[in-house]
Amino acid sequence: MCGLVGYTGNRVASEVLIKGLARLEYRGYDSAGVACVRGGELAVVRRVGKLVNLRTALDGAPIVSTVGIGHTRWATHGRPSEENAHPHCDCTGRIALVHNGIIENYLELRDELAAAGHILRSETDTEAIVHLVESYYDGDLAQAVAKSIRRLEGSYALAVIHLDDPGTIVAARRDSPLIIGTANGENIVASDIPAVLEYTREVVVLNDGQIAIVTPDDVRVVDVNLEPVEPEMMHVEWDLDAAEKGGYEDFMLKEIHEQPTALRETLRGRFVDGEIELSELKMTPSEVSAIDRVFIIACGTSFHAGLVAKNLIERWARIPVEVQVSSEFRYNDPIVDDETLVVAITQSGETADTLAGVREARERGAKVIAITNVVGSRVTRESDGVIYTHAGPEIGVAATKTFTAQIAALNVLALKLAQAKGTLGSEEVERIWLELSTLPDVVEAILANTGDLEACAEEYVDAASSLFLGRGIGVPVAMEGALKLKEISYIHAEAYAAGEMKHGPIALITDEVPVVVVATQGHTYEKVVSNIQEVRARGAQVIAVATAGDDEIRQHAEHVLMVPRTSEALSAIPATVPLQLLSYHIAKKRGCNVDQPRNLAKSVTVE
Ligand code: G6P
Repeated sequence: MCGLVGYTGNRVASEVLIKGLARLEYRGYDSAGVACVRGGELAVVRRVGKLVNLRTALDGAPIVSTVGIGHTRWATHGRPSEENAHPHCDCTGRIALVHNGIIENYLELRDELAAAGHILRSETDTEAIVHLVESYYDGDLAQAVAKSIRRLEGSYALAVIHLDDPGTIVAARRDSPLIIGTANGENIVASDIPAVLEYTREVVVLNDGQIAIVTPDDVRVVDVNLEPVEPEMMHVEWDLDAAEKGGYEDFMLKEIHEQPTALRETLRGRFVDGEIELSELKMTPSEVSAIDRVFIIACGTSFHAGLVAKNLIERWARIPVEVQVSSEFRYNDPIVDDETLVVAITQSGETADTLAGVREARERGAKVIAITNVVGSRVTRESDGVIYTHAGPEIGVAATKTFTAQIAALNVLALKLAQAKGTLGSEEVERIWLELSTLPDVVEAILANTGDLEACAEEYVDAASSLFLGRGIGVPVAMEGALKLKEISYIHAEAYAAGEMKHGPIALITDEVPVVVVATQGHTYEKVVSNIQEVRARGAQVIAVATAGDDEIRQHAEHVLMVPRTSEALSAIPATVPLQLLSYHIAKKRGCNVDQPRNLAKSVTVE
């Protein structure tokens, strides 16, 4: 996964490219580069590492040009190096190309091109494409791109420029995102909307198999046979502010604080005249009540939301739910059929493993509902129905507001299933809905009073390892708490069902291993307290997430992070928030870059 931008218009192209890439850095930051048409040559500048390195290079030697392409890379084929950084050029140095995706038959193509005399200078799959374009070029760049993409197996979003046609960018895509922001006298190609928002809210969504021929005054969309296609237009509601830090030190902190809004927006309009409104399911009431099995597929944080959903759907709708990480699902010969509802949870809507799982499920006859945050993303095109989380763009690589928004949407789904199955009466549904509607305020209250969270973070800043425990719905909360801590602070964190801890992880406990326990009120509360005593007897320092008013817990824990009282079923969202903040403060105190943790990327478009 990578981010790409292309600009053609009347501004200084490299400045537009750099700003656009800055908004796409969440897609990868191993290297960055630009290629601009300057007079009769291509000016190509590439740097290893974050965008700031490229920006510094360009500040020292600005490129005077009004057309160019740029790229920020997350390495797949070939290590992060200047040779492997995009843009890549052909042998003549007249064509430059940027790519996001993976070309599966690249070795074969590279061999063929090398045998034909092309000199390939990098280890990448991408470089094969630019040489293919060179080999097919006979004066028409779009035609050469069309011929080249027919040869590609795998996924790609591409932007290509040629010195022969200096104002034009040719873009194409299959299975990787690509949009074109259209404005007066200028057009911007990009992997994602934040890169174009400064200039326009009008966007062409390029679909799979389409090619766009972009000049300052025109965006022409054609198919792979170069036949004209009506462009799919979209008006973007987000403003640029929504994609920026909004005064917070980091995107992650901003996004943690945006959770009340994200929850409100996600729940908005979901209860109408006593009915849970979920027309996106696109199923008749009898189809919904015929569902006898739910399969949830997801990765990372979204997987944890899936585990919360299992608890809710089984609790309320009494439908058995299986949750699998997407990368396992498709290879496990899953037992799904036309009476199985498959729910694919993916914040980005572009995660390759989850998309592959969606295809697998549909081939087996299952109905697939996607839960995603990104309008028009790949998963929305491949699923039977889509439920959006309205969390707004999430830039921090570690998911926060999109996780709690996913849980909110899954609450709605679980209630809908329960209503259709008749496992909850209308009064019960209404009671739960009313409580659910208070969660944005509950989260607001947690954020307004974080107690001794920072002092607690200070104490554990040097921990090498930690344990996160919970029971029932507290298990996925513990798993998400552990994931947040390990991914942004690099402290080892292991999550376990509290009752299972005595069968192994207890051996790890020393007075140097903090144990974070989700100990909110619920039917297993007493058991959790017993588990706390077991770890304390072995010297552990305990940080408990507990329900306001629980004074007893203070005797059992070094630190207590209080959250307002909710019913057990709705406790996952409030219990998560202090754990997000705990990880955030520990990571900051360790000097970590919380928005861009090492080795991670926001959207993983490779399997
Ligand atoms: C990456 C991100 C995680 C995310 C996971 C799944 O690993 O770093 O934050 O949870 O992908 O992404 P998705 O967009 O499918 O929810």
